[in-house]
Amino acid sequence: MDQSIKFDLDLIKRYDKSGPRYTSYPTALELHEGFGELQYHQHIVKSNAAGGPLSLYFHIPFCDTVCFYCACNKIVTKNRVHAVPYLENLCKEIAMQGVLFDKHRTVNQLHWGGGTPTFLSYEQMKQLMETTRQHFNLLDDDSGEYSIEVDPRETNDLTIAQLRELGFNRISLGLQDFDPEVQKAVNRLQSQEQTFAVLEAARKEGFRSTNIDLIYGLPLQTEQTFARTLDEVLAYAPDRFSIFNYAHMPSRFKTQRQINEVDLPTPAVKLEILQMVGKKLTDAGYVFIGMDHFAKPDDELAVAQRQGKLYRNFQGYSTHSDCDLVGLGVTAIGRVGDAYVQNFKELDQYDAAISQGRLPVFRGVELDADDKLRRGVITQLICHFDLSFHKIEREFNIVFADYFATEMENLHIMQDDGLLSLTANGIKVKPAGRLLIRNICMVFDKYLAQQQQQFSKVI
Ligand SMILES: C[S@@+](CC[C@H](N)C(=O)[O-])C[C@H]1O[C@@H](n2cnc3c(N)ncnc32)[C@H](O)[C@@H]1O
Ligand code: SF4
Repeated sequence: MDQSIKFDLDLIKRYDKSGPRYTSYPTALELHEGFGELQYHQHIVKSNAAGGPLSLYFHIPFCDTVCFYCACNKIVTKNRVHAVPYLENLCKEIAMQGVLFDKHRTVNQLHWGGGTPTFLSYEQMKQLMETTRQHFNLLDDDSGEYSIEVDPRETNDLTIAQLRELGFNRISLGLQDFDPEVQKAVNRLQSQEQTFAVLEAARKEGFRSTNIDLIYGLPLQTEQTFARTLDEVLAYAPDRFSIFNYAHMPSRFKTQRQINEVDLPTPAVKLEILQMVGKKLTDAGYVFIGMDHFAKPDDELAVAQRQGKLYRNFQGYSTHSDCDLVGLGVTAIGRVGDAYVQNFKELDQYDAAISQGRLPVFRGVELDADDKLRRGVITQLICHFDLSFHKIEREFNIVFADYFATEMENLHIMQDDGLLSLTANGIKVKPAGRLLIRNICMVFDKYLAQQQQQFSKVI
């Protein structure tokens, strides 16, 4: 499979509009409070009947300091005592959810995200993993994809060894940018020494995949400063890069108001940065996986993509398409069978539900037949950049050209623009269309017209 990208400035400018990142379809905006604990229970019953392995996501919301750009669901506190009641309730939730899932279902994928999971002490992390092991069927032979997000400012060699001992084998490090002025502007001071010490320690301990998170579009960034950061990181050759486009939405994320908007790079500068990123990483031998992600050609994500086995979920790209995802902790989102479900976003509501012995379900959505079809199309395109009409027709019992007559008209315009080619058999996204994959997916999103204002810009 050709995994190359082509940077076409003119096309990118023309298609630069807001859109979802499609970690789910429908997106989280369609979740509603009419879907509660009862509906969740019903979907778990169906999911157990279908069987298959599980994926567990744990949300640890705490951070020691705030990064002004941050759009994650987090609670900023220096007081580590706050983690104690949270962990207690999280362990209760694990027990409550664990009892509902069939014990034969192995946990092939597990992820701790945040916030900052390493805000917890080793004893707390150990307790969390042990409680999980008591209530779910964890794999003990290191064959699962067990990953964690770490903040190198909160981590050292010992933490990394402990995480490995707890069973983690994939790791993602938050970095964003090494430039001292950018770091000051976003309130995240992080040295190269601490970052690379963690990366090296992870390699030494046998973590199988190392990822670095960067953000482009932060205040005071220029093509030159970001190129320097990239060069510095490339010298340590992580297996993967997540390079996010800064989503600046100060009306939704209050701390972003501390960012001086005149310091933000102009759209023209952001495009220069994006072009430079694509070139530097592909010159260094990385392949573009899609939507913000690059990986070494022998990394499991790149391999899965070549084999047609890549999948996308709330944690980004994944190799585990067959897993139902159980979300645990405040704000966590899961996907069980044909439903998405989210826990309460506010800690007091989450705590109240657990204290009353209820699952902390806040809202959810059950997919109808049209949602499932569109999800199938979007997932295939965003993961593999191609789509076979026959495969979709067989799987969903439709005639593609009839069902998607309006969408086909839009795809023809995209074909004329050079984003993709249409054949009698299907859609092939061209190298120039890959950076615009979310625009192509947006063609198939039936909810978009009502939601357009709520998403960040594509580029
Ligand atoms: C939960 S954090 C990673 C772990 C840890 N808290 C840290 O910062 O090192 C997830 C990632 O989301 C990305 N992120 C956060 N806010 C963002 C925003 N407004 N726009 C784009 N990416 C963002 C950052 O790259 C960050 O590393
Ligand atoms: S980027 Fe990470 S450390 Fe910074 S506030 Fe967000 S979650 Fe916390």
